[in-house]
Amino acid sequence: MQIITGWLARLFECSHYHCYSWYMTDVKQAELDKLRQDILDKNICPELAASATNLVLGDGNLNADIVFIGEAPGKNEDEQGLPFVGAAGKFLNEMLAEAGMARQDVYITNIVKYRPPNNRDPLPEEKKAFWPYLLKQLQIIKPRVVITLGRHSMEYFLPGMRISAIHGQPKRIQFGDDKLVIIPLFHPAAALYNGSMRQTLIDDFLLVPKIIEKL
Ligand code: URA
Repeated sequence: MQIITGWLARLFECSHYHCYSWYMTDVKQAELDKLRQDILDKNICPELAASATNLVLGDGNLNADIVFIGEAPGKNEDEQGLPFVGAAGKFLNEMLAEAGMARQDVYITNIVKYRPPNNRDPLPEEKKAFWPYLLKQLQIIKPRVVITLGRHSMEYFLPGMRISAIHGQPKRIQFGDDKLVIIPLFHPAAALYNGSMRQTLIDDFLLVPKIIEKL
């Protein structure tokens, strides 16, 4: 009801396009809030939940064409409840800017939504537990392109592939009734202090707008 009254109020103030996108944002936000509540109610990964400060669901533009998916929140992300706000996030923001994209135009999330203790790699059972929620998140946002950051999110979309062999190469997969383009990239945290991987990641990032232009 709140959504409908908010939407009606704006209807008289804006163009069709803006109204529609505001309406969609409200609907999607309500669906994502429900998804968050579902994760809490079902007590997904109770040990991670017990040691984490926040459930980090995701952040960004709910009508984005591009969704970035990392591994799991780190210390800063856990404290702030937002993905990619630490050193890796700063590097991600810089690459987005270099590639002509703004953080507020994309949506960013992780495969695992709680911080693993001491920033260890997410366990296979943790990724498996959160995978259905990530799928639901994508069904809500409906991006055209998913950019996986690191092997942990890549392996679920492109099983059996090696990131060192296919980074920067777009892959088209079936996603429900639709097609989805996956662009696997190295993880910014892994590339941050590794000179050659860093340059490869930057080069791959600069290809993203060109790949999207051709879709
Ligand atoms: N690394 C990730 O994979 N995700 C974050 O949110 C931050 C760092």
